[in-house]
Amino acid sequence: MVGVGERRTIVVTGGSSGIGLAAAAALARGGDEVVLLGRDPGRLRRAVEVVREAGGRTPAAYRADFAVLDEVRSAGAALAAVHERVDVLVNNAGQLAPARRLTVDGFDPCVQINHLGGFLLAHLLLDRLRAAAPARIVTTGSAAEAWGTLDVRRPGRRQVSRWAAYGASKQANLLFTIEAARRWGPYGIVPTCFFPGLIRSRFGRQSPLFSLGKLVFRSPEQGADTLLWLAGDPAAAMPGGYFAWRRPFGATGRSVDPARARHLWDSSLAAVYGAEGERSPRGEP
Ligand SMILES: NC(=O)c1ccc[n+]([C@@H]2O[C@H](COP(=O)([O-])OP(=O)(O)OC[C@H]3O[C@@H](n4cnc5c(N)ncnc54)[C@H](OP(=O)(O)O)[C@@H]3O)[C@@H](O)[C@H]2O)c1
Repeated sequence: MVGVGERRTIVVTGGSSGIGLAAAAALARGGDEVVLLGRDPGRLRRAVEVVREAGGRTPAAYRADFAVLDEVRSAGAALAAVHERVDVLVNNAGQLAPARRLTVDGFDPCVQINHLGGFLLAHLLLDRLRAAAPARIVTTGSAAEAWGTLDVRRPGRRQVSRWAAYGASKQANLLFTIEAARRWGPYGIVPTCFFPGLIRSRFGRQSPLFSLGKLVFRSPEQGADTLLWLAGDPAAAMPGGYFAWRRPFGATGRSVDPARARHLWDSSLAAVYGAEGERSPRGEP
């Protein structure tokens, strides 16, 4: 466990449903202080109840739609004001977003929700992660990275279809993990990424084929297993690693290319901090 002898504070994005909720309940049951982030108020309220029943304490919960960066900024600021340390950030919020129109911030919705929102939140919580070092960031990736064609210099560029956008966003999750390990490793932060397998959740309900597959998919609890391992097991403290079923997992070359990871980091900073980029936390040790 991280922070032996203390209750860990673990922030779970996408904690209102599926893999994130299953992980949050298990962490609360194990004695951790869980902080939930979700988008839908009703699902977030129900998730608070599930986690309270699992751990015996009412978790703090923050609402933010990652398709609106100002909402991420508000939730991140509110969370940082209350929680002095974050032992683990579970960077899990994601969806197969429609590719029809750009977000209010001007980016592809899927790439913003699945990558830029979490990227911004990680920066907003960087001081809290450093205060808890050794700390961890666990990102929920996907084997869909294999078909991603992310333009790392313009990550928010509109994608041609929702599945193309999803692949690009999951490629970004892995590249984020690799560059976060390089930049934030010296702070005692261990970033990892994992593929949960094909899981029965609310994910992909817009896709008839994916919904059909749910007949044979695994449960959210099974999907959360590697996440829980990465969040706490000393053997899983492998900076920049990519895993599935508690084992190292292969990814395509362009999802783990260090040069692409650096470019993506810089262009993502510019995307979320805009003209204020120079005043943003650059994250360099
Ligand atoms: N299911 C699979 O087979 C599978 C496979 C590989 C990877 N994944 C990844 O696993 C992660 C969790 O997905 P899941 O399967 O557990 O699906 P899920 O049941 O749909 O849960 C997704 C979570 O992300 C949150 N979320 C979605 N859009 C958001 C937005 N715009 N702003 C803020 N939060 C948002 C949801 O919040 P609300 O409930 O409030 O909307 C929910 O808590 C995702 O990153 C997904 O890409 C899933």
